[in-house]
Amino acid sequence: MKLAIFASGNGSNFAAIAEAVKEGTINAELVLLFCDKRQAYVIQRSQELGISTICFEPKDFVNKAAYEQELLQILKVNQVDLVVLAGYMRLIGPTLLKVYSNRILNIHPALLPDFPGLHGIRDAFEAGVIETGVTVHFVDDGVDTGPIVAQESVFIDEKDTLEMLEERIHQVEHQVYPKVIQETIEKLSKTNEWKWSVEG
Ligand code: GAR
Repeated sequence: MKLAIFASGNGSNFAAIAEAVKEGTINAELVLLFCDKRQAYVIQRSQELGISTICFEPKDFVNKAAYEQELLQILKVNQVDLVVLAGYMRLIGPTLLKVYSNRILNIHPALLPDFPGLHGIRDAFEAGVIETGVTVHFVDDGVDTGPIVAQESVFIDEKDTLEMLEERIHQVEHQVYPKVIQETIEKLSKTNEWKWSVEG
C-alpha cells in the first residue's frame, strides 16, 4: 500500500510516521510528502530523509479546484492508496474527496467533536477542561468531522502550562497515529475497495 502525507508546518507527526515506515511497524511505502507552505520545517525533515517532497501553494492556482486537481494528478501518478494528513491546515475540497473518500486520515489534537479547528490544544486549555486528547478520523467535507477511528485521552493538570500540555499531546500523537495508520492499512487491505482504481 502506498501512502502520501500532507503537512503544513513543523512535521513532528510526519517524522514519527516516516520512522514507523522505516522500522516496518507501518507496512506501507511512503511515496511522498506534500506541503502547502514553502517555509514549513517539514520540507527540510522530508528532504533529509530522502523522501520525495512536493510543495506548492493554493495561491499559485486560479482556484481551489485547480490546486486540488494538480494534487490529484500527483496522487494518481504515484498510485497513492491512502492520504495521511499530519498538521495539514486546510480543508480538503470536493475535487480530492470525490476520489479519496474514506481514504484520507486526519489527526486532531483534541477529543472531537470538542475543540475542532486550528487551535484544538489551546482552546481546550483555555476552556479549563480536565480532559482533552487526540482523535484520528477519516476526512469528510467538514472541519475536523468525519468518522472517528480512534481517540486517546490526555488529562490536564492544574499545574500544566499550555506548553506542557502541547508537549504531552504531541507525544501521544506520535504514539497513536502510526499505530492507527497500520490498523487502518490492515483493515483496508482486507477489503477490495482500497486498491488504486481511478481510470485514466
Ligand atoms: C498536530 O498537533 C495535529 O494534531 C494538528 O496540527 C499539529 C501538527 O503538528 N492538526 C490540527 O490541528 C488539524 N485540525 P506537527 O506539524 O508537528 O505534526
